[in-house]
Amino acid sequence: MNQTVDPAEARALLKWLVEAGADEALGDAPIDRFAVAAEPARVETAAPVPRARTPEPLPQRKSEPLPQRAPASFAVPARAGGSAEIAARCTTLGELRSAVEAFDGCALKVTAKTTVFADGHPDASVMLIGEAPGRDEDLQGLPFVGRSGQLLDRMLNSIGLDRASSAYITNVIFWRPPGNRPPTPEEAAICAPFLLRHIELKQPKVLLLLGGTPVKHVLNVEEGITKIRGRWGRIVVSGVEIPALPTFHPAYLLRQPGAKRQAWQDLLSLKLKLRELV
Ligand code: URA
Repeated sequence: MNQTVDPAEARALLKWLVEAGADEALGDAPIDRFAVAAEPARVETAAPVPRARTPEPLPQRKSEPLPQRAPASFAVPARAGGSAEIAARCTTLGELRSAVEAFDGCALKVTAKTTVFADGHPDASVMLIGEAPGRDEDLQGLPFVGRSGQLLDRMLNSIGLDRASSAYITNVIFWRPPGNRPPTPEEAAICAPFLLRHIELKQPKVLLLLGGTPVKHVLNVEEGITKIRGRWGRIVVSGVEIPALPTFHPAYLLRQPGAKRQAWQDLLSLKLKLRELV
Protein backbone atom coordinates (compact mmCIF):
# COMPACT_ATOMS: atom_id res chain seq x y z
CA MET A 1 0.00 0.00 0.00
CA ASN A 2 1.54 3.33 -1.05
CA GLN A 3 -0.93 5.50 0.87
CA THR A 4 0.41 7.25 3.96
CA VAL A 5 -1.57 6.26 7.02
CA ASP A 6 -2.03 8.72 9.85
CA PRO A 7 -1.14 6.72 13.00
CA ALA A 8 -3.90 8.42 15.04
CA GLU A 9 -6.49 7.54 12.39
CA ALA A 10 -5.18 4.00 12.11
CA ARG A 11 -5.44 3.60 15.91
CA ALA A 12 -9.00 4.98 15.90
CA LEU A 13 -10.01 2.61 13.09
CA LEU A 14 -8.46 -0.36 14.85
CA LYS A 15 -10.31 0.59 18.06
CA TRP A 16 -13.63 0.63 16.21
CA LEU A 17 -12.94 -2.73 14.55
CA VAL A 18 -11.96 -4.35 17.86
CA GLU A 19 -15.07 -2.93 19.53
CA ALA A 20 -17.17 -4.26 16.65
CA GLY A 21 -15.89 -7.79 17.27
CA ALA A 22 -13.02 -8.00 14.77
CA ASP A 23 -10.58 -8.67 17.58
CA GLU A 24 -8.21 -11.27 16.11
CA ALA A 25 -5.67 -11.24 13.29
CA LEU A 26 -5.96 -14.68 11.72
CA GLY A 27 -3.47 -14.61 8.88
CA ASP A 28 -0.32 -12.92 7.68
CA ALA A 29 -2.00 -11.63 4.53
CA PRO A 30 -5.10 -9.41 4.66
CA ILE A 31 -8.32 -10.87 3.25
CA ASP A 32 -10.75 -8.71 1.32
CA ARG A 33 -13.99 -9.71 3.07
CA PHE A 34 -16.11 -7.82 0.56
CA ALA A 35 -14.64 -9.87 -2.27
CA VAL A 36 -15.16 -13.03 -0.19
CA ALA A 37 -18.83 -12.19 0.19
CA ALA A 38 -19.22 -11.63 -3.54
CA GLU A 39 -17.13 -14.53 -4.85
CA PRO A 40 -16.97 -18.29 -4.15
CA ALA A 41 -14.67 -19.18 -1.23
CA ARG A 42 -10.99 -19.57 -2.14
CA VAL A 43 -8.93 -22.57 -1.05
CA GLU A 44 -6.08 -21.42 1.17
CA THR A 45 -2.87 -23.31 0.39
CA ALA A 46 -0.65 -21.82 3.10
CA ALA A 47 -0.39 -23.70 6.41
CA PRO A 48 -3.10 -22.39 8.73
CA VAL A 49 -1.95 -20.00 11.43
CA PRO A 50 -2.68 -21.47 14.88
CA ARG A 51 -5.28 -19.43 16.70
CA ALA A 52 -6.62 -19.26 20.18
CA ARG A 53 -10.30 -19.47 19.32
CA THR A 54 -12.55 -19.40 16.29
CA PRO A 55 -14.53 -16.16 16.17
CA GLU A 56 -18.26 -16.69 15.89
CA PRO A 57 -19.55 -15.95 12.40
CA LEU A 58 -21.77 -12.90 12.19
CA PRO A 59 -25.41 -13.99 12.37
CA GLN A 60 -26.85 -14.02 8.87
CA ARG A 61 -30.18 -12.27 9.30
CA LYS A 62 -32.85 -12.69 6.72
CA SER A 63 -33.21 -9.07 5.85
CA GLU A 64 -36.66 -8.54 4.42
CA PRO A 65 -36.84 -5.16 2.66
CA LEU A 66 -39.01 -2.60 4.41
CA PRO A 67 -42.38 -1.73 2.86
CA GLN A 68 -42.33 1.45 0.80
CA ARG A 69 -44.53 4.33 2.00
CA ALA A 70 -44.69 8.02 1.25
CA PRO A 71 -42.58 9.96 3.78
CA ALA A 72 -44.78 11.01 6.73
CA SER A 73 -43.94 14.65 6.25
CA PHE A 74 -45.61 14.89 2.82
CA ALA A 75 -48.89 14.70 4.72
CA VAL A 76 -48.37 17.65 7.10
CA PRO A 77 -47.47 20.81 5.21
CA ALA A 78 -50.15 22.82 7.05
CA ARG A 79 -48.23 22.53 10.34
CA ALA A 80 -44.92 23.35 8.75
CA GLY A 81 -45.04 27.17 9.06
CA GLY A 82 -44.41 27.73 5.37
CA SER A 83 -41.38 25.42 5.25
CA ALA A 84 -42.88 23.37 2.41
CA GLU A 85 -43.32 26.40 0.15
CA ILE A 86 -39.91 27.83 1.07
CA ALA A 87 -38.17 24.50 0.49
CA ALA A 88 -39.90 24.00 -2.86
CA ARG A 89 -38.55 27.35 -4.11
CA CYS A 90 -34.91 26.34 -3.46
CA THR A 91 -33.08 25.00 -6.49
CA THR A 92 -29.58 24.40 -5.09
CA LEU A 93 -28.11 23.14 -1.83
CA GLY A 94 -26.69 26.63 -1.23
CA GLU A 95 -30.13 28.19 -1.59
CA LEU A 96 -31.61 25.60 0.73
CA ARG A 97 -28.93 26.24 3.36
CA SER A 98 -29.61 29.99 3.21
CA ALA A 99 -33.38 29.41 3.41
CA VAL A 100 -33.03 27.16 6.47
CA GLU A 101 -30.70 29.68 8.13
CA ALA A 102 -33.22 32.48 7.51
CA PHE A 103 -36.25 30.42 8.57
CA ASP A 104 -37.95 31.54 11.80
CA GLY A 105 -40.82 29.05 11.90
CA CYS A 106 -39.27 26.59 14.35
CA ALA A 107 -39.13 27.62 18.02
CA LEU A 108 -35.96 25.59 18.57
CA LYS A 109 -34.07 28.33 16.78
CA VAL A 110 -34.70 30.70 19.70
CA THR A 111 -32.67 28.63 22.16
CA ALA A 112 -30.07 27.28 19.71
CA LYS A 113 -26.81 29.12 19.13
CA THR A 114 -26.41 28.07 15.48
CA THR A 115 -28.24 26.45 12.59
CA VAL A 116 -26.70 23.06 11.84
CA PHE A 117 -27.34 22.37 8.18
CA ALA A 118 -24.87 19.77 6.89
CA ASP A 119 -21.27 18.70 6.58
CA GLY A 120 -19.35 16.58 4.11
CA HIS A 121 -18.92 16.40 0.37
CA PRO A 122 -21.94 17.61 -1.64
CA ASP A 123 -21.20 15.04 -4.38
CA ALA A 124 -20.86 12.08 -2.02
CA SER A 125 -22.86 8.98 -2.94
CA VAL A 126 -23.88 8.44 0.69
CA MET A 127 -26.07 10.84 2.65
CA LEU A 128 -26.31 10.17 6.39
CA ILE A 129 -29.25 11.50 8.37
CA GLY A 130 -29.21 11.77 12.16
CA GLU A 131 -31.71 13.18 14.62
CA ALA A 132 -30.79 16.66 15.85
CA PRO A 133 -27.68 18.62 16.85
CA GLY A 134 -26.37 18.23 20.39
CA ARG A 135 -24.27 20.65 22.43
CA ASP A 136 -21.03 20.32 20.46
CA GLU A 137 -22.84 20.53 17.14
CA ASP A 138 -24.70 23.65 18.30
CA LEU A 139 -21.42 25.30 19.28
CA GLN A 140 -19.64 24.44 16.03
CA GLY A 141 -22.57 24.67 13.62
CA LEU A 142 -21.74 21.23 12.17
CA PRO A 143 -23.48 17.86 12.54
CA PHE A 144 -21.89 14.97 14.41
CA VAL A 145 -18.78 16.61 15.82
CA GLY A 146 -19.12 15.43 19.44
CA ARG A 147 -18.39 11.97 20.84
CA SER A 148 -20.96 10.22 18.70
CA GLY A 149 -19.63 12.08 15.67
CA GLN A 150 -16.13 10.83 16.38
CA LEU A 151 -17.45 7.28 16.51
CA LEU A 152 -19.38 7.91 13.31
CA ASP A 153 -16.17 9.05 11.59
CA ARG A 154 -14.44 5.83 12.67
CA MET A 155 -17.38 3.81 11.38
CA LEU A 156 -17.21 5.56 8.01
CA ASN A 157 -13.43 5.13 7.85
CA SER A 158 -13.80 1.41 8.47
CA ILE A 159 -15.55 1.03 5.12
CA GLY A 160 -13.32 3.47 3.28
CA LEU A 161 -15.54 6.56 3.55
CA ASP A 162 -14.92 9.94 5.12
CA ARG A 163 -16.85 13.16 5.35
CA ALA A 164 -14.20 15.19 3.52
CA SER A 165 -14.54 13.26 0.28
CA SER A 166 -17.22 10.58 0.27
CA ALA A 167 -19.97 11.17 2.84
CA TYR A 168 -22.53 13.94 3.38
CA ILE A 169 -24.17 14.33 6.80
CA THR A 170 -27.28 16.11 8.02
CA ASN A 171 -30.07 15.76 10.59
CA VAL A 172 -33.86 15.70 10.63
CA ILE A 173 -33.75 18.85 12.83
CA PHE A 174 -31.48 21.83 12.22
CA TRP A 175 -31.47 23.33 15.72
CA ARG A 176 -30.47 21.81 19.04
CA PRO A 177 -33.45 20.87 21.21
CA PRO A 178 -32.89 22.29 24.75
CA GLY A 179 -31.10 19.80 26.98
CA ASN A 180 -30.78 17.41 24.01
CA ARG A 181 -34.36 16.22 24.46
CA PRO A 182 -35.84 14.30 21.51
CA PRO A 183 -37.51 16.56 18.96
CA THR A 184 -41.30 16.72 19.14
CA PRO A 185 -43.43 15.50 16.19
CA GLU A 186 -44.36 19.17 15.60
CA GLU A 187 -40.71 20.23 15.30
CA ALA A 188 -39.96 17.32 13.00
CA ALA A 189 -42.99 18.18 10.84
CA ILE A 190 -41.76 21.77 10.50
CA CYS A 191 -38.28 20.67 9.40
CA ALA A 192 -39.37 17.72 7.25
CA PRO A 193 -40.05 19.61 3.99
CA PHE A 194 -36.50 21.00 4.21
CA LEU A 195 -35.14 17.51 4.81
CA LEU A 196 -36.97 16.06 1.83
CA ARG A 197 -35.89 18.91 -0.43
CA HIS A 198 -32.37 18.40 0.93
CA ILE A 199 -32.44 14.78 -0.27
CA GLU A 200 -33.97 15.83 -3.58
CA LEU A 201 -31.29 18.45 -4.28
CA LYS A 202 -28.41 16.37 -2.96
CA GLN A 203 -29.43 13.32 -5.04
CA PRO A 204 -27.52 10.70 -3.04
CA LYS A 205 -27.24 7.15 -4.33
CA VAL A 206 -27.88 5.75 -0.86
CA LEU A 207 -29.22 7.00 2.48
CA LEU A 208 -27.96 5.80 5.85
CA LEU A 209 -30.53 6.55 8.55
CA LEU A 210 -29.03 6.86 12.02
CA GLY A 211 -31.60 5.81 14.60
CA GLY A 212 -35.38 5.85 14.83
CA THR A 213 -36.05 9.55 14.16
CA PRO A 214 -34.84 9.67 10.53
CA VAL A 215 -36.40 6.26 9.89
CA LYS A 216 -39.75 7.62 11.01
CA HIS A 217 -39.55 10.80 8.98
CA VAL A 218 -37.87 9.52 5.82
CA LEU A 219 -39.36 6.03 5.51
CA ASN A 220 -42.55 6.64 7.51
CA VAL A 221 -41.83 3.52 9.54
CA GLU A 222 -42.75 3.53 13.23
CA GLU A 223 -41.20 0.23 14.28
CA GLY A 224 -38.28 0.31 16.72
CA ILE A 225 -34.80 0.59 15.28
CA THR A 226 -33.72 -2.70 16.89
CA LYS A 227 -36.30 -4.48 14.80
CA ILE A 228 -35.71 -2.79 11.49
CA ARG A 229 -32.00 -1.99 11.40
CA GLY A 230 -30.20 -3.69 8.56
CA ARG A 231 -33.35 -3.94 6.41
CA TRP A 232 -33.19 -1.84 3.26
CA GLY A 233 -36.07 0.52 2.59
CA ARG A 234 -36.38 3.02 -0.24
CA ILE A 235 -37.92 6.34 -1.04
CA VAL A 236 -38.76 7.76 -4.41
CA VAL A 237 -37.65 11.36 -4.82
CA SER A 238 -38.34 13.19 -8.10
CA GLY A 239 -39.05 9.83 -9.72
CA VAL A 240 -35.70 8.37 -8.59
CA GLU A 241 -35.62 5.48 -6.16
CA ILE A 242 -33.09 5.87 -3.36
CA PRO A 243 -32.27 2.86 -1.16
CA ALA A 244 -32.22 3.72 2.56
CA LEU A 245 -30.65 1.64 5.32
CA PRO A 246 -31.71 2.07 8.96
CA THR A 247 -28.94 1.48 11.47
CA PHE A 248 -28.22 2.31 15.09
CA HIS A 249 -27.44 5.88 16.07
CA PRO A 250 -23.77 6.18 17.16
CA ALA A 251 -24.90 7.63 20.53
CA TYR A 252 -26.75 4.33 21.12
CA LEU A 253 -23.59 2.43 20.20
CA LEU A 254 -21.66 4.42 22.81
CA ARG A 255 -24.20 3.35 25.43
CA GLN A 256 -24.55 -0.23 24.13
CA PRO A 257 -21.16 -1.27 22.72
CA GLY A 258 -22.48 -4.81 22.19
CA ALA A 259 -24.62 -3.48 19.33
CA LYS A 260 -21.52 -2.45 17.37
CA ARG A 261 -21.40 -5.95 15.93
CA GLN A 262 -24.76 -5.39 14.24
CA ALA A 263 -23.75 -1.88 13.19
CA TRP A 264 -20.70 -3.41 11.51
CA GLN A 265 -22.98 -5.74 9.54
CA ASP A 266 -24.99 -2.72 8.44
CA LEU A 267 -21.83 -0.94 7.33
CA LEU A 268 -20.83 -3.96 5.24
CA SER A 269 -24.29 -4.00 3.71
CA LEU A 270 -23.91 -0.30 2.87
CA LYS A 271 -20.51 -0.93 1.33
CA LEU A 272 -21.89 -3.73 -0.84
CA LYS A 273 -24.82 -1.58 -1.95
CA LEU A 274 -22.43 1.18 -2.96
CA ARG A 275 -20.41 -1.33 -4.97
CA GLU A 276 -23.59 -2.33 -6.77
CA LEU A 277 -24.73 1.21 -7.48
CA VAL A 278 -21.68 3.41 -7.95
N1 URA B 1 -26.77 13.34 17.22
C1 URA B 1 -27.44 13.56 16.08
O1 URA B 1 -28.42 12.90 15.78
N2 URA B 1 -26.97 14.51 15.27
C2 URA B 1 -25.89 15.21 15.52
O2 URA B 1 -25.53 16.05 14.71
C3 URA B 1 -25.20 14.96 16.72
C4 URA B 1 -25.65 14.02 17.56
